[in-house]
Amino acid sequence: MTDLATLETNLAARIAVAPDTAALEAVRLDALGKTGAISALLKSLGAMNADERKVQGPAINGLRDRVATAVAQRKTLLEAAELDARLAAGRLDLSLPAPPRRKGAVHPTMQVMDEMIAIFAEMGFALAEGPDIEDDFHNFTALNFPPKHPAREMHDTFFFPPDAEGVRKVLRTHTSPVQVRAMQRTNTPPAAPWIAAGQAPPIRIISPGRTYRCDSDATHTPMFHQIEGLVIDRDIHMGHLKWTLDQFIARFFELEGVVTRFRPHHFPFTEPSAEMDVQCDTSGGEVKIGQGTEWSEIVGCGMVHPNVLRNCGIDPDEWQGFAFGFGVDRLGRLKYGMPDLRDMFASDVRWLAHYGFSAFAAPNPASGLS
Ligand code: PHE
Repeated sequence: MTDLATLETNLAARIAVAPDTAALEAVRLDALGKTGAISALLKSLGAMNADERKVQGPAINGLRDRVATAVAQRKTLLEAAELDARLAAGRLDLSLPAPPRRKGAVHPTMQVMDEMIAIFAEMGFALAEGPDIEDDFHNFTALNFPPKHPAREMHDTFFFPPDAEGVRKVLRTHTSPVQVRAMQRTNTPPAAPWIAAGQAPPIRIISPGRTYRCDSDATHTPMFHQIEGLVIDRDIHMGHLKWTLDQFIARFFELEGVVTRFRPHHFPFTEPSAEMDVQCDTSGGEVKIGQGTEWSEIVGCGMVHPNVLRNCGIDPDEWQGFAFGFGVDRLGRLKYGMPDLRDMFASDVRWLAHYGFSAFAAPNPASGLS
């Protein structure tokens, strides 16, 4: 018993003066570790006879418990003291520069898309969408493309390999198939909730989206963006088309009195067809819209061909309409001056940092929608 009492006194004294958690841990190991003094005593119980064990057992176990409790209490105390010391010694240097953080930016195409959608929304156009992977009917046939039209050739269009029935799907070459989907009333519901469902005239929609053509140079990329517009109503004529486009251009470029002109053109799905040019000046090396004596092509358009109306189940003697198709990236280039269209999709964050827009920019025409 004296031995146990001496041991306990010694350990209690060492625990009480242990200056830090490391020193305390050393004491704990000396007492309760695998080869510690108390562990050795516990082991010695096995060699004792029953009477001895009855006395020594509780005594040794009691010692072990008291030492363990003392260690735990001292540990809590030391840890708190150590934390206080760290907090007192540590200094938060608020003058240190923060590590650099990359800030995201809105891609110019998405910014321009938002601006365009906002302007057309205010003019009363609804939004309609369609799939990027189209069938021949919606992309070509319904739009009055004759069977041998060059746009059906391999060099213009990305075709998928034929499926089991020999049908070749395409990556849509324009967003015009959405006008077919918007006009065509079928019994089958659209394949996805965001795909335009056919509706009865009058119709006034815009359809923004990605389009694809096998083309790549400074002004063409294999993937680009269009916004198509379609208006179907009674007594609609070219004057409505011109007014709509002139209004849009004035709002988009934030310029009053920009001069535009219609130039005759051909599209299979419109008759008559035109391209609209906008007055510009390129003499200083950059394109300035609304001044000078040059012209920049800005949008393809025309009156919806009676065959297209018929293909979509609409009587051309009762209803007429116009359609137009903007290249969104191209329009962005004209407004914000990106030199090469291909850079827009090269995923270079330096380019995006330079030409991108802040998501929290000052209100623009799009802010009401996004
Ligand atoms: N779909 C045409 C194109 O991609 C643009 C267009 C749309 C022209 C609607 C006329 C009417 O070039």
